[in-house]
Amino acid sequence: MKFFIDTANFEEIKEAHSWGILSGVTTNPSLVAKEENVSFHDRLREISELVNGSVSGEVISLDAEGMIKEGLELAAIAPNITVKLPMTPEGLKACKFFSEKGIKTNVTLIFSANQALMAARAGATYVSPFVGRLDDIGQSGVELIATISDLFAIHGIESEIIAASIRHPQHITEVALAGADIATTPFKVLKQLFHHPLTDKGIEGFLADWEKRKSK
Ligand code: E4P
Repeated sequence: MKFFIDTANFEEIKEAHSWGILSGVTTNPSLVAKEENVSFHDRLREISELVNGSVSGEVISLDAEGMIKEGLELAAIAPNITVKLPMTPEGLKACKFFSEKGIKTNVTLIFSANQALMAARAGATYVSPFVGRLDDIGQSGVELIATISDLFAIHGIESEIIAASIRHPQHITEVALAGADIATTPFKVLKQLFHHPLTDKGIEGFLADWEKRKSK
């Protein structure tokens, strides 16, 4: 399973990129709205120059025509831009259009296996089931990832599954085991993945022993 970071904050992206683990970036209108003093297109340009992988920028139109217009403008920013589209009939019309043009798409706001199947059949490069938001309403987001992964394997579907709406480190292990191709992860959760008390204790012990040896 690969790691994408789920943020529009350039400092967070730079930091995670420096760790050597990052294969892509996802943004959404709520994440972009938090970023002040930079235009959406400029931020996508900055990110796509830094990260050598898929960078999702989401459209906000509700009709296919508007989504296509916005998506073409986004795709013109850089070759690694992925057009993020909502899981609606209009979103899938636009998805089909981009797929036939060879432009990558990420169909977002997926909450059922049938939605994932439809998005895949419309040519989605990526489908994004929202794990945490399903957990919030008492359904299992991880189970949905496993079901979609099984369905895609049975039917030889090549769309990649991005586990989105990741809330904590346990989600990462669980969605990886359930067959997600990618987890798009907030910076806070990515940082949490480093931590283990025995790692910190181990470093302290090694350094203390080294100091003792030096003083002999
Ligand atoms: C990513 O593509 C989604 O927009 C994002 O993961 C949603 O996460 P949230 O449920 O924490 O807003």
